[in-house]
Amino acid sequence: MMEIKKVAVIGAGTMGAGIAGQVANAGVEVWLLDLPTDNGTDAEGNPLSVNAVAERGLERLRDPDSPGLMSEEAESRIHLGNTRDDFHQLAGCDWVAEAIVERLDIKKDLYKRLDETCHDQAIITSNTSTIPIKLLVEDMPEAFQKRFAITHFFNPVRFMRLLELVRGEHTDPAVIDVLDAFCEERLGKGVVNCADTPGFLGNRVGVYAIQCALHAALDLGLKPAEADALFGRPMGIPKTGVFGLYDLIGIDLMSDVVQSLVNILPDGDSFHAEAGVVPLMSEMIANGQTGNKQGKGFYRTDEATNTRYV
Ligand code: NAI
Repeated sequence: MMEIKKVAVIGAGTMGAGIAGQVANAGVEVWLLDLPTDNGTDAEGNPLSVNAVAERGLERLRDPDSPGLMSEEAESRIHLGNTRDDFHQLAGCDWVAEAIVERLDIKKDLYKRLDETCHDQAIITSNTSTIPIKLLVEDMPEAFQKRFAITHFFNPVRFMRLLELVRGEHTDPAVIDVLDAFCEERLGKGVVNCADTPGFLGNRVGVYAIQCALHAALDLGLKPAEADALFGRPMGIPKTGVFGLYDLIGIDLMSDVVQSLVNILPDGDSFHAEAGVVPLMSEMIANGQTGNKQGKGFYRTDEATNTRYV
């Protein structure tokens, strides 16, 4: 069985940084790449490094309240970079895990670049929440499809044991065996093999449930804290509640995830009427209220009461 000795994660956001941290915790070298920052400045007007996004991802792993890294030694195994200047580093990686935005067009563009750069045996996976493999790789050569799978980690990566492993029609069974063994034995995950269907298992059920709660809260005119007091515990989300979970996941990502399910699910599916797109989410995104990563979402994390409805 092929051994995974070096990994790359593309996308240093909530999930990509978490995956890189978990790989580093397991003693494996990992490149963490995101888009380059050109001519960016921080809040004080100082120039930002070209790898500022990847650096922010690493910074989140150091969060003392929810540490994604187990040691400084683990951190030393993470190499930061960007997809313009450091893409060639992928040629030496055995597993490239894509964890970029939930947009089919952007993911497809990246796969074309990966196909040109990665070595023939390299395994390539997506962390997509909703998009079936057959759509992700429909334009790719069969050789690429053979080494492609979905490894769907849950948030936060270090603490959530579940990992959905999805194989496509053309995925080589040996690729699934390598991923299954690595994710179980090295990353400590509980791997569940899922069919290649929209949202797989977790998000088909979970997104449906929390979107239904959002629809109900809006219909009933409930504030997030009121709705969470009602729905949180019965829905099995006692700690954050439904709206705190939206903030944790990211309102922007949830909007993309819901839109992606709406695009993929057949017309008559009950998801459309009961759990479909809510205009409030677009308004929040336009206002920069994307959840914990911006410090404001349904809840404002900087306010003692934590109860503001936005
Ligand atoms: P995020 O928005 O936190 O991070 C995405 C990162 O990708 C950003 O840093 C962005 O700059 C980067 N990016 C965008 N286009 C890129 C490109 N062409 N090349 C390189 N980097 C690029 O998103 P998040 O939440 O980490 O989600 C990533 C993936 O994981 C999505 O497919 C999402 O559906 C999935 N996912 C998210 C979960 C969550 O709770 N946030 C849970 C499970 C899966």
